[in-house]
Amino acid sequence: MKKIAVVGSINTDYTFKCNKLPKPSETIHGEEFKINFGGKGANEAVAIARLGAKPVLFGMVGDDLYSKENLKNLKKQKVDTSHIESLGGVSGGSAGIMLDNNTNSIIVIGGANMKVDSSYLERHKQSLLDCDIFCLQLEIPFSTVDEVINLLYENGKTVIFNPSPITKLKKSLLDKCQYVIVNEVEIKELPNYKDNEQLLKAYKGRLILTCGADGVYFYDDGVKHVPAAKIKDVKDTTGAGDTFLGAFAVAISKEMPLKDAILFANNCAGLKTTKYGAQTGMPYLSEVEEFIKKNSKN
Ligand code: RIB
Repeated sequence: MKKIAVVGSINTDYTFKCNKLPKPSETIHGEEFKINFGGKGANEAVAIARLGAKPVLFGMVGDDLYSKENLKNLKKQKVDTSHIESLGGVSGGSAGIMLDNNTNSIIVIGGANMKVDSSYLERHKQSLLDCDIFCLQLEIPFSTVDEVINLLYENGKTVIFNPSPITKLKKSLLDKCQYVIVNEVEIKELPNYKDNEQLLKAYKGRLILTCGADGVYFYDDGVKHVPAAKIKDVKDTTGAGDTFLGAFAVAISKEMPLKDAILFANNCAGLKTTKYGAQTGMPYLSEVEEFIKKNSKN
């Protein structure tokens, strides 16, 4: 059985729900406020655990109340937290999320996530190399992500990279990742971007473009489209991309062909949007199987 690891962020999400996002300089009345567990790294780990695998999460929390609650929650969700360090004198990561009926906008404050550095990697190197498939994002320092991708590449590991929040990246780094998963905004920032088709073709089967309700695109012997799951009642899109990534890692660990892995991940991400909260809304394997069975009859 291949072991899946996530190296990434652990956040507390402060979510403001409204019917329509405010414009700059505008004040509006919202609908609801909620505090949820989040962070792209933690979200991916929870998605993986709920789908029946046993993920190891590498990262850091602070010593504030929410960091402690985050850690408790991750254990409850059956994520291996034995390599998460708790740092004194620092707050855990936090995210301000503005949510309307279809989309979300997020501001992330790194906190303890930004202390995941080269010395952290050194302390956990052996445990990292005991894993086979890795999910990575960009809510920890870029230099750490760069270093860990190089380490994993040298050791023949599979890296699934979601460069979010996006920054300028070198092609040489992306070439060390087995899969790069981006949305419509992120793809435009990748090196040598001219248009979606040209870049998908250049990365042939390694670059996966997620377009929300419009489904997912990748390149095989031409651009291939995998439709999104049909969801009537979208409640919260937060964490849908992280659910996609986690589910994709699980599918890859089971050696599913690429198109099937994307289809499985699409169903998981779609189901996530029917419930509130990045992590609380993530589906369990039994729910995904039932959803797939039901839809195959329609
Ligand atoms: O992808 C969603 C996540 O992004 C949220 O949970 C928030 O913490 C930010 O990291």
